[in-house]
Amino acid sequence: MTTTATPAATPSSITLRRPDDWHLHLRDGAALAAVLPHTARQFARAIVMPNLKPPVTTTALAADYRERILAALPAGMSFEPLMTLYLTDNTTPDEIRRAKASGFVHAVKLYPAGATTNSDAGVTDLVRCDATLEAMQEVGMPLCVHGEVADPSVDVFDREAVFIDRHFIPLRQRFPGLKVIFEHITTRDAAQYVAEADDLVAATITPQHLLYNRNAIFTGGVRPHWYCLPILKRETHRQALVAAATSGNRKFFLGTDSAPHARGAKEAACGCAGCYSALHAVELYATAFEQAGALDKLEPFASEFGADFYGLPRNEGSLTLVREPFEVPASVAYDRDQLVPLAAGTVLNWHVV
Ligand code: DOR
Ligand code: ZN
Repeated sequence: MTTTATPAATPSSITLRRPDDWHLHLRDGAALAAVLPHTARQFARAIVMPNLKPPVTTTALAADYRERILAALPAGMSFEPLMTLYLTDNTTPDEIRRAKASGFVHAVKLYPAGATTNSDAGVTDLVRCDATLEAMQEVGMPLCVHGEVADPSVDVFDREAVFIDRHFIPLRQRFPGLKVIFEHITTRDAAQYVAEADDLVAATITPQHLLYNRNAIFTGGVRPHWYCLPILKRETHRQALVAAATSGNRKFFLGTDSAPHARGAKEAACGCAGCYSALHAVELYATAFEQAGALDKLEPFASEFGADFYGLPRNEGSLTLVREPFEVPASVAYDRDQLVPLAAGTVLNWHVV
């Protein structure tokens, strides 16, 4: 990383190796066309989530989706979609072998059925997938985990911590050689679990979970644009996540979980879960790392550790941010609707050149 120093010793610009987003929702059709340029402006690659309607459950569907993503990329932009398969109770070991052989499927995603947006086709009981998980372990196909129990009797703020004991630990005992990414961790419990696990376990962390605690959802009224799953937690958890992200531990890396939903679907009696951060993701992370006095740890978190964990080369290009006030737009166009970005109307310290 290169920095340009101001007299106050805070750099006035930072240049990073071009980063990747290790957890992203791109959607499809006109929505895909609206959000893809935002990601491609900053990131060279992204792990693309498969929770479309219907979900991306096969290598053939992932190939088609990949083509639609590449077709939606504006001329002159470069971006490589890293595809994932949506794990169901019926995913076969053969499908895993096809996915591995494709070269473009880089992970399989576990959504516990009912845990979040478009998870209805997800896994009802992980032991039903054991033959498939065995094949993943054998061929070296990582499992991305939405680590929340879907059990309605468990408090929504406890669902991640409970998942560790009920599912994560047993999964790792059954498949100690399986590479697992604990996606979008939100608790001290998860950060600690990952830090203490062996090197086959890693975690992604979103900008919203680094910058905000659960008060943000209820500041002066209900704030639907701060509602995502797993939900924001209390301040002690946010602090633990900041400590993990800025620790220099290679198990923690960038994954925005940018999840676009039209304004009307968020500002509703039953609003959708998801924060839109693709527009300004690196600016958000830089603001969080600066607040922690750890800007020097941003580059490995954003541009090195994820690629290393997935066994992919680090990118060659670079991305420069300047330290200048950047007011997050109130909204951006989205299909025939609008998207409200995370922290709309607030001022961030950093801006991508
Ligand atoms: O907040 C979320 N939104 N969490 C998820 O797990 C899914 C995502 C989406 O697809 O909208
Ligand atoms: Zn997600």
